[in-house]
Order: sequence, then structure tokens, then C-alpha cells
Amino acid sequence: MIDIAALTLEEKASLLSGHDDWYTEAIDRLGLPAIEVGDGPHGLRKETGVDMVWVPATGFPTASAMGASWDRDLVRRVAVAIGEEARAEGVQVVLGPGVNMKRSPLCGRNFEYFSEDPLLSGELGSAYVKGVQSVGVGASLKHFAANNQEIERTRISVEADERTLREIYLAAFERVVKAADPWTVMCSYNRLHGVHASENRWLLTTILREEWGYDGVVVSDWNAVHHRVRALAAGLDLEMPGTAGKTDAEIVSAVRAGELDESVVDEAVRRVVRLVERAHPAAVPGFEVSPGARLTDSQLELLRADEHHALAREAAAGCVTLLRNEGGVLPLNPSARVAVIGAFAAHARIQGGGSSGVDPTRVDNALDFFEAAAYAPGYVHTPLNAYQDDLTAYLAAHDATFVDDGRGPARRSAALAEALRLAAAAERVAAGPLSAEARRLIDEAVLVAQDADVIVVFAGLPLAFEQEADDRTTLSLPADQLALLDRLASLRDRTGADLVVVLSNGAAITMDPWHDRVDAIVEAWLPGQAGAGAVADVLYGRVNPSGKVAETFPLALEDTPSYVTWTGERGTVLYGEGVFIGYRWYDALNRPVRYPFGHGLSYTTFDYTNLNIKITDSVRVTCTVTNTGPRHGREVVQLYIGDPDATVRRPVRELRAFEKLTLAPGESTPVTFDLTPRDFAYWDIAAGPHGAWRLEGGEFVIEIGASSRDIRLQTTITLPDDPTLPPIIPDEKLLELGGSRFTQGHR
Ligand code: GLC
Repeated sequence: MIDIAALTLEEKASLLSGHDDWYTEAIDRLGLPAIEVGDGPHGLRKETGVDMVWVPATGFPTASAMGASWDRDLVRRVAVAIGEEARAEGVQVVLGPGVNMKRSPLCGRNFEYFSEDPLLSGELGSAYVKGVQSVGVGASLKHFAANNQEIERTRISVEADERTLREIYLAAFERVVKAADPWTVMCSYNRLHGVHASENRWLLTTILREEWGYDGVVVSDWNAVHHRVRALAAGLDLEMPGTAGKTDAEIVSAVRAGELDESVVDEAVRRVVRLVERAHPAAVPGFEVSPGARLTDSQLELLRADEHHALAREAAAGCVTLLRNEGGVLPLNPSARVAVIGAFAAHARIQGGGSSGVDPTRVDNALDFFEAAAYAPGYVHTPLNAYQDDLTAYLAAHDATFVDDGRGPARRSAALAEALRLAAAAERVAAGPLSAEARRLIDEAVLVAQDADVIVVFAGLPLAFEQEADDRTTLSLPADQLALLDRLASLRDRTGADLVVVLSNGAAITMDPWHDRVDAIVEAWLPGQAGAGAVADVLYGRVNPSGKVAETFPLALEDTPSYVTWTGERGTVLYGEGVFIGYRWYDALNRPVRYPFGHGLSYTTFDYTNLNIKITDSVRVTCTVTNTGPRHGREVVQLYIGDPDATVRRPVRELRAFEKLTLAPGESTPVTFDLTPRDFAYWDIAAGPHGAWRLEGGEFVIEIGASSRDIRLQTTITLPDDPTLPPIIPDEKLLELGGSRFTQGHR
């Protein structure tokens, strides 16, 4: 490590903000290089120096798809591949994973997050970090913390009580920090209790460093710093992007004026220098790509593009979730006459919009996998997935001529902004009253499908519905797709054809009124560049689906936990539902849902037997799972605990362990879960001066399920009080003490 004492104060300050959007500052005098950071999390987005033009990379399934895989090893392997591409392209830190909770399915970035459950998010986030960092590239755990909506994301203040934060909104970050030690943690845009995350000392220092022991670099989200000196003092090491020295000068002035101790600067510099030095050896010779150019064969070779495309297909297949399969219409009979309906079949929806957008090395489309199938687009769709190919084609198709008038990059980003605006407009029209064009497309689709044995409809949410910095206003499919499904369901009733719906969406949708009128529903999520092949593999039975939803599919938006408080008002959003988000909410209200957390069907069946509990200083839970069906299959075994005796309100059940098994027909395997006292604990705000994790003695329910509402084995155990804590103060005593404990500890 370079000798920090040899640095001038100005040099130190310059290391605490970026050189520009994507590079840290170099100190040539001492041989300290700059390093490059680039988005993730679903593939590498390396900038080319030209606005909105990225170096192509493999587009893997987005996080909400990977969440449905419940497969730690698959997530790790995808992350390794992303790390390898980062090394090949000379990027030293990948900005991912995102582990924010899905407080509402309306959040426009839910496609970038794993789950509504902190354990599942934390486990998969840890696998991702370990994968990327195993090849010498850093990860960036984001967005810390409580960034759960896109509307007003840079200004909204989240008001959540400490128990809710610790049990739900911080828990996944805690798990990843402790299990995988990410080289960087990215603070979020929003305020928490009125203080921006970028200068929230309780978050960045008290919790992250003093309690969790984190010693990596805290980096800001881009332009998330509002007061550099306050942010540095709160624990924010690296401001991104750079400010051309403006805020560096503020740091120097504050030290010189005695307002900021230089030791605080030195501590942050130490962490940034360590990052640069541990990351830099990862770099390989530059990966020069002229903006807008496609990759050469040797560059594709360097990226191992074919191998990674195959991995993207395997990953997407592991995420595909079979929601409904009435009458076993799937897998398809290969000799069946198939009509493929839906523009997404001709131009796959592979990812969401915003900073996670990857320019894929290639994209498979479903029509490539249906020999001689009849096809009709069925609805309006603007093919805007990959920035480069689609943009050029789109602009050409819409006479938005893109002539580089010598002003180069600025012109291109203006053209892209125009294209995206036009796309959003086109798709929002699709969500409104049916246009003549929409009606014509539906009539055409019905005509094309009338002689089919099987109608496969590729539906879902267009790009304009799911993107960063925007939230959805409805959980429904666009109006023209609803009208299409209505007409095709009527055709199905008339002709007896099987009707299969394949969905491409990054977050839960509602399925009225078409749900009961279709035979099968395959949730493909946003499956990345090879998703279409994976879907075909599942539809034709080459792959037995094994995905399980990592977020509840509600029956209606009004049923969702955050419905009355969503996006807040007067600059504040109140997390009034507390710890009861996702399945915790629907189970507490015993509310019916369309598909419960953890749900997913298979082409085979599984039996659960022999539940056994052994209590020592941990609780060992074992059971046996058997593949009782005709095919190889994979099953996600889920363990939930309940604490009905607690003196605080707790969810009916909470996920505490899971394992994804692979079983041959007739094969049985034992499953073992070891639970720790923390697995049974809740955050007791009244335990000691600042609260503590409390295992409150009494009866606990242990459930083993194929989903949160398909419980196959259940028992109860009794555990003693946590001996390390003072006894619980009864509520009436607390009330005598007066005042709410919610506001103590971290104001
Ligand atoms: C964005 C996102 C963050 C991303 C960063 C760099 O605003 O919030 O996830 O990594 O800026 O693009």
C-alpha cells in the first residue's frame, strides 16, 4: 500500500471523489492508478466515453428472475461470469448486487432486486458478491438503505421504526456484509428519518461499521451526496461521480478551518487506497471498442461470449417459474400445431430500463425455437431492449433519423432519449383505450390462432413499465394485452385449443380477468439475452421448471401492504405496515393471494417425510424429500418459523432456511437445517438502552414447505429465554416509563 503520510491534503481529498463518472482518481506521483467501476448487476455495462453507448456484454437474467431460482450456486456462477467479463473489459468494480426489499410490487426497480424476504435476498446477494470477488473484481452492495420506491427517490424521507429496519430493510445488507464482505457498499439516494443516506451516520458508521464490523469502502450512489464534508464525517468514503475538484476543495477547507479532523480523511483514504490496490491487479489490457461498434470475434472470444450465452440460458431456465398447468397441458406435445402470439416472441423482453441496462452480445427470440409456428404480434410493442441495435432500428423505423451531425455523443443521447420517450408514449397508449391499430393486431392474432392445437401467448410488461426512476401505477398488464387475452380465451373455448401464457415482467402482476380462462402460465421474468431459449426448453420439457416466486403475486393492488402509504406525502413515506411486508402481510391478514411466496410447480412431484428436531445450542431440523414423479426435478425446500407466544406482534411465519435439491425419479434425500438463536429472535426496542436481538422463550412453530402456503411438515418446539438479556419489561411498565422507544438510539 502506498504511504498515506506521503500524500498532500489535496491529494487525499482528490481520492475521495471520482475522476469522472466511472473512474477513481490516480496519484501518478506515487504510482497509484485509477480504477474503473461499471454497472451490473445483470451483466457488465462498461462505458465507451460516448453517452449512452456501452460495450456489449452478456445480458443475464435480472435479479427478480434469479430470486426465483432460489439457487445460491447458480447466482454465484453467473456472478463469476460477470466478474470475468469485467476483468476482460478492464472494469475493477461491478456495481451490484441490489438487495433492497420489495415493499410494493409497484416499484419500478423491483426487477433489480431479489425478493420481498431479507433472508432469500441476503443469501443470493452473498452468493453474487462471492462470485464476482472470486475473480479479483469488487462488488458494490446497494442501495444502503431503505430505497424501496423510485418516485422522489432522491428526496423522500423514509420513516420506519427501528425494529422494522433491522428485521426487514437492513437484514439482507447485514447478511451480505457479514457473509461476503463486499469491497464496496453503495449508499442510497433517499433520506432515512430526515437525513440523506449519504450523510446518515447511524446507517454508515453506527450500524455498518461499528455494529457489523464493515471496513470496506462506502461509495455514494451517483450524485447522492448533498454536503460532502457532512457525508465524509458520517462515513461516506467515495463520492461518485467526480465533481471536478469542487467538493475536494470543500474537504481541504474544512480540515484547514478545523471543522473536520484530518484523521477522518486519512481513514477514508486508507480504505479507498486499499480498494484500488486490491482491485487494480484484476485489470487486463484495455478492451477498446469504438462506440456503437459490435465486438470483433477476438473480443467475443475474450469475453467467452458463447460459453456465457449458454450459462445465461441455463440460468434463465433455472428461474422460469411454472405458476399454473391445468390438465398438464405442459410440456407441449412436439407434434402439436402451435400458434405463437405476442410481439415479445419476435423481440424478447430481456431486462428493465435504467442503469442496469446491458447491451447484450446477442439476443435469442422465441420464434427461433418454434419451427413453422403461425405467428402474430398481437399488440403494440416498441423493440427497445439493447441500446445499440434496437435504437438504430427503432429510430430508422420511426423516421427519427440519427445522423451524427458532427456533435457526436450528445446527439446520440438526445436521439436515445427521444426514442425512449416515443417508446414510452407508444406503450402507455397501449395501456389506454384501444387504438384502431391495437384492435387490428388483435383481430389478426385471433385469425392466425384459429387452427392451432396450442396457442402460446408471450405477454408481459413493456420496457416503459419497468425502469429506474419510475414506478408503476398499476399491477395489470397493458390494456391491449388484456383485450388480446380475452379474445384468445374465447377462441380457446370455441376450438378447444390449449392456451399457454408466457410472461416477461420484472415484478408481480395481477391476472384478472384472464387468469381462470387460460390453461397454463409460465413466468419467465426478465430472463436476459438467452431467455427465449430457456422458455422453449421448459415449454417442450427439455428442462423441468424449478423456479419459485420470490415475491407474492397479490389478487389486487389494494391488497398490498403499502397500498395506503405508497410513495408517501409531504416528503415523507411512513412504513406503517412495519415488518409485515410481502407474505408476512398476507399471512397476518390470512388474505388470499394469486400465488404465494415460494410457489412454483414442476413436471414431477415431491413428497416430504421424517421431520425431526434436535435441540442443542442450535436447533437442527432434518427431513426427507422424495421425487415421487416420473421425471428428474429440482425442488426448493423452505423452512419457516413462527413465534405465536411472543409479547410483540410477529409474522405468522418467516423464512429461516432453504435448499434447492436435484432428485431423480424415486430418489430420496435427507435435508438438514441448523438454526441459531438469532433465527428465532426479533429486535426488541426495549432491550437495554439501544435495543437488542431477543430470543423470547416459549413455543415456536417449525414448518417445512414447498411454498409459504404449501406446508408439508410442521411441529412445535419450546425454547428458553435468551440468558444474555435482561428480562422483558412488560408493556404496562414501559408505559409507566413513558414515551415511545421508537425514536431513541438513532436520531
Ligand atoms: C444509478 C443507480 C445505481 C447505479 C449508479 C451508476 O442512479 O441508482 O444503482 O449503480 O447510478 O449508474
